[in-house]
Amino acid sequence: MQKILVTGGAGFIGSNFVRYMLNNYENVHIIVLDALTYAGNRENLNDLESDPRYIFYHGDITDRKVVNNLMSNVDTVVNFAAETHVDRSIHKAGEFINTDVKGTFELLEAAKTYKVERFLHISTDEVYGSILDGSFKETDPLEPNSPYSSSKAGGDLLVRSYFVTYGLPVLITRSSNNYGPYQYPEKLIPLFITNAIDDIPLPLYGDGKNIRDWIYVEDNCSGIDAVLQKGEIGQTYNIGGGNERENIYITEKILDLLGKPRSLIKPVKDRPGHDRRYSIDTSKIREIGWKPEYDLQDGLKATVDWYVKNEAWWRQIKEKSEAYKAFYDVQYNNNK
Ligand code: NAD
Ligand code: DAU
Repeated sequence: MQKILVTGGAGFIGSNFVRYMLNNYENVHIIVLDALTYAGNRENLNDLESDPRYIFYHGDITDRKVVNNLMSNVDTVVNFAAETHVDRSIHKAGEFINTDVKGTFELLEAAKTYKVERFLHISTDEVYGSILDGSFKETDPLEPNSPYSSSKAGGDLLVRSYFVTYGLPVLITRSSNNYGPYQYPEKLIPLFITNAIDDIPLPLYGDGKNIRDWIYVEDNCSGIDAVLQKGEIGQTYNIGGGNERENIYITEKILDLLGKPRSLIKPVKDRPGHDRRYSIDTSKIREIGWKPEYDLQDGLKATVDWYVKNEAWWRQIKEKSEAYKAFYDVQYNNNK
């Protein structure tokens, strides 16, 4: 029986990963540790509540006592917990440093003390920075550009150091932009789907030509699982969808899928320090037998359908975030 501590399991990718593991393995026991920040939502795991192989613990990864207590009961850690939104990090970086760096440190210390067998850290392709031509390999230097990506790079490098210095059995994944069910409606795809449903403008930053590589969340989950089962200890693996598109392309696809007019697109002032293009080379993870299964068109359609069917889920979240939105609109979404 594999006993896994999944931090940040009530968030977008974490909750999809918990569901993926329980659906694919009989012999797995999962403890979710989540602080339920604005982005965490126990409802994301509602359908799993009655599964005896899953336990939820409300707590913070920066809390040493809590982390030590849980670590003594598991053999594997998958660390998703993080502050994750670039725009929020531009307003207020403190929580990013606290969770993404200090929280990762507390988990590493406890994992060392309790001698866990696998510590898989979820990093991001944003740690490499922007690239206009070609694609980043795992060995490329890290050049993060936002407080978010810098704090993620700090956590990522700390994890590496615990392998080199203490021999902690770590693994790192750096994935591209995920999309799919349960993504908090502040990120591009769910924000634009839910705005379009309500006929509210879609605030497209700058010239709309920044490029992201989109991966359906289930493909990232199968990639993380492949690294957990077959990855070489101490190594880092890029996980990319192979779907590089300009933001304007994604925006128009969403409007088309919902039958909404292009006039809903509202060009707004650019994000400060906005990375132009992300691109990662995924040959290393493909060598251990992984590849993405979802085509972008199918994944986008499935995602739009999910948000249409789960209106109560996102409407409640958007109503709660009104105060933040008002502040954010003044800062960034005013007309150019
Ligand atoms: P998310 O914002 O949806 O969820 C983050 C979760 O972490 C939430 O449930 C939140 O409550 C929890 N959390 C935050 N601070 C915590 C703390 N101090 N202690 C315990 N729990 C805490 O994020 P996501 O999009 O699911 O991202 C998950 C991970 O994947 C992050 O590490 C992120 O950097 C990484 N990542 C995300 C993407 C993406 O496209 N979303 C791509 C690459 C990497
Ligand atoms: O690349 C992986 C990263 O992807 C993850 O590490 C982050 O946690 C995740 O938030 C995401 O970061 P991005 O900044 O790429 O995602 P976001 O959805 O915020 O923005 C995607 C693109 O869309 C980006 O070029 C900015 C643009 N954008 C975003 C928003 C929210 C807009 O044009 N308008 C918007 O309102």
